[in-house]
This record gives sequence, C-alpha cells and structure tokens, in this order.
Amino acid sequence: MSAIPAVYYYDEHPSEADFYAEVIAGLTRRPRRIPPKFFYDERGSELFDAICRTEDYYPTRTEQALLQQNAGEIFDLIGERCRLIEPGSGNSEKVRLLLDVLRPSVYVPMDISRDFLYQAADQVAREYPWLEIHAACVDFTAPLSLPFCPPGGRKLIFFPGSSIGNFEPEQAEMFLRNLIPVAGPQGSLLIGVDLKKDPAILNAAYNDREGVTAAFNLNLLHRIGRELDAELNPQLFTHHAYYNAALGRIEMHLVSQQAQQLTIDGQRFDFDKNESIHTESSYKYTVEEFIDLAGRAGFTSRQVWTDPDNLFSLHYFDVAED
Ligand code: TRP
Repeated sequence: MSAIPAVYYYDEHPSEADFYAEVIAGLTRRPRRIPPKFFYDERGSELFDAICRTEDYYPTRTEQALLQQNAGEIFDLIGERCRLIEPGSGNSEKVRLLLDVLRPSVYVPMDISRDFLYQAADQVAREYPWLEIHAACVDFTAPLSLPFCPPGGRKLIFFPGSSIGNFEPEQAEMFLRNLIPVAGPQGSLLIGVDLKKDPAILNAAYNDREGVTAAFNLNLLHRIGRELDAELNPQLFTHHAYYNAALGRIEMHLVSQQAQQLTIDGQRFDFDKNESIHTESSYKYTVEEFIDLAGRAGFTSRQVWTDPDNLFSLHYFDVAED
C-alpha cells in the first residue's frame, strides 16, 4: 500500500476581473504594457516549460547543473529539516534537485497557475511521500504572506529561473525586502540570477529557433481572446525580443504588423503600424550588482556559484542581522 501524500491546497487565484482591469489599464497607458504574470494560464505554463527545454534557452539547464553540483554545499549552509518555500514554482522541476539532499520538513510551492500548481504538487507528493506539501495559488508580485507554513526549522526561500530579473530593479529590491519577514530572522534565500553577457547569446535565448518563445508571447493575446469579450486577431502581431544594453535588460514586445483596432468589452484600442505592447523585461545582473541589490534589501551574501562559461549565477543569502 502506498502512503497517502500529504498535500494541502490554498487558493488565492486572481479573479477574472483583475485580468480584465489590468489588460484595459495596460493597453490604455503609453507605452502599452501588460504585466507578465498574465502569461501563465495553463497553456502559457506549458509553453514556458517548452521554452526551458529549447536549445537556445541556456538558463534552465545551466542553473540545474549548478543546483545539482552544489546541493551538498547548500545543505551545509541551511542545515537539517529546513522549510523550503518556492514562489513561482511552476512545474517544480528544479526543486527535485534539492529535495533528496536537503530533506526539508515542509515544501511550500506557490504559483499563479492554479491547476498547473496542484498537478505539480501532487506529482512531487507521489515521488517524495515523506514530504509535507502546502501548495498555495498566489500572485507573488503582490505582498507575499505565508499564513499556512507550519512551525519548524529554518526557512529557505528558493527563487530560481532568474524570475527576479522580470521585476524592474526597484521592484526587485522591494520584493526581496518583503521576503525578509517571510524568511524570518534565521532565514535564507537561494536565488538564480542570469548574468550580463554577450548580447548575441541573450538575443538567441529569447528568440529561440523553434519559435516557442514567440508562441508563448503571442499566447497572451490568445488568452485575452479566450477569456475576455474581445475582438482581436493575434496573427496581426509579432513577437519581438532584444537586449537593451543601456538598461541591461531583454525587452519582449508584441508588435502590431499594421494599423488596426482591437475591441475589449466594447472599448476600442487603436494601434499604429509597429506600435508595441511591452510584455516583459528580463534584467541581467553581474554578481556584484546583484549582491548590492540584495544587500540594500537586507540580505547578506554567503555564497555564489557560477558555471564555467559565466552564463548564470546561483546566490545564497542570509537575512542580515541588525
Ligand atoms: N525568468 C525568465 C527569464 O527572464 C522568464 C522567461 C524566460 C521568459 N523566457 C521567457 C519570460 C520568455 C517571457 C518570455 O528568462
């Protein structure tokens, strides 16, 4: 007989009204901009997984290698029976590289994509029957609270995938500052950050030859068409991603191929030819830049691992003592 996996679910999924309001507000302002969290409906989460498997998108495999190679050292830093908290856990694939080594008492995956999150949590529970799991559907770009984390050992917040780069730098700092009370005084942060590098490598990573990133970006328009009362043709937009060296970020846009009008719930939006919707930025940091940013937020650097080609960094921070 197999043990019944202990998974508890918490649902604070944003409402359809939030999606509607943010799309309308985002298309009204200039430059037009829709928050990247809305990429992640079920289809978007699947496409994102597919991006991570493309040849051109190097961050996932590079970070996985860093996690695998350094899991023992991470265990030495955090110690036994930590409580592992992962905002934006997605398919929970990377955490598997840590679970056998860290043997946490609790795992708290958090994601905005509810069904996707619950399926991933159930799968982890089947593979790790000794692990207590509290899966929380939340928008982690809103102030993060953890009412459901049971008492126990030190907390380790795991934030891989350079998701921190998808915040504007000031927001990134604020997000990290908000993690301090979540982590608690003895808490730590294990965070993956994509490094500044040759723009050709960066441009290729966000314009994969299989076209998966383009499909992921365009899925936002398909989602608007599916979920909101909209008249729009996603085929009249194209994916455009490029490295903006002055700002140290990849910018992703949906560019209108012609002058056109969209209607959402009776509201009309006029697009010029080549006018864009900015859908995401992905900031790149040097190791030093990131240690400074996290330091301003209240974290002290304990360790940094990078791969031999200096593509990606994995940082371990403690909550600073005051
Ligand atoms: N955090 C990832 C990154 O910035 C997210 C990401 C990867 C992404 N590829 C993407 C987001 C393509 C939007 C589109 O690299």
